[in-house]
Amino acid sequence: MKPSLALLAGTALCAAAPATADVNIYTTRQPELVQPVMDAFTEATGIAVNLAFVDGGIVERLRAEGARSPADLVMTVDIANLRQIVEADVIQPVESAVLTAAVPAELRSPDNLWFALTERARIVYASKDRVAEGEVTTYEDLASDTWDGRICTRSGVHNYNLALLGAMVAHHGEDYAREWAAGVRENLARKPEGNDRAQVRAIWAGECDISLGNTYYMGQMLEDPEQTEWANSVRIVFPTFENGGTHVNVSGIAMTKAAPNRDEALQLMEFLVSPEAQEIYAQENYEYPVLEEAEVSDIVAGWGSFEPDTADLAEIADQRGVALRIMEEVNFDG
Ligand SMILES: [Fe+2]
Repeated sequence: MKPSLALLAGTALCAAAPATADVNIYTTRQPELVQPVMDAFTEATGIAVNLAFVDGGIVERLRAEGARSPADLVMTVDIANLRQIVEADVIQPVESAVLTAAVPAELRSPDNLWFALTERARIVYASKDRVAEGEVTTYEDLASDTWDGRICTRSGVHNYNLALLGAMVAHHGEDYAREWAAGVRENLARKPEGNDRAQVRAIWAGECDISLGNTYYMGQMLEDPEQTEWANSVRIVFPTFENGGTHVNVSGIAMTKAAPNRDEALQLMEFLVSPEAQEIYAQENYEYPVLEEAEVSDIVAGWGSFEPDTADLAEIADQRGVALRIMEEVNFDG
């Protein structure tokens, strides 16, 4: 009798304790880049986190699932994707003194619909052999004759390049931005193809001297034995706008409207802006933490410091349609 009594007592105890819900996340980020910081959260709180990798179509999925969606949070990159989630009306505002204290105002939506977790800069990868120190100066200069036949880039209509062009529109207006895009197109060594790392590979192979790319790819290339040589053939240069700084974009997080586990999800959001989590997450991704006091990895620190641009992300997102039209008008990818 005794063992079964003990068993019953144990069962009753379990039933009386409040059940801890899991937090469910839809993410466009590679799960292995997100997992370490989630493990730290689970260790600190006992709350499990389920990551569902959704490569595109997050908005469609949240819409289709509606109020029955199991997802509490969405994690994605780029202001264009964050804007799309806002416009689709599938997320809810989150009022949290912790979040607003940690994330600078220009790195969250004014109505607290999304919060940036990390920043990345869109910079120039320059051949160590064929590009002199100081030769790369401004984004504007990339349209000058200096770079004739020397530039590689991915598609002009990729979000990363549309945001850069949107920033150019924000700084100088549409007409200037169109001329600039046409000038850069003239300077391309080859038609846009492949991702940011493929451009560095092209520099390594001698096809071009500089490329546009996001900072974190340097870290990713160094980690991949097949790409280490590409990475070692270039250095990162932080161009600026003539009247501003270096173009940056963000990765961010938002709470879904459905959020079945709202309290736990909020706990996770607040954890993600803590110094511990900011360092784990940014270092894992070779990105820049949004929290001032959190440190970048040694590799990222080694690229040097830069002044982030002054054009704000909301305005850059507003210019996306204009940027897309310009890229088509100048036949950037043609
Ligand atoms: Fe990327």
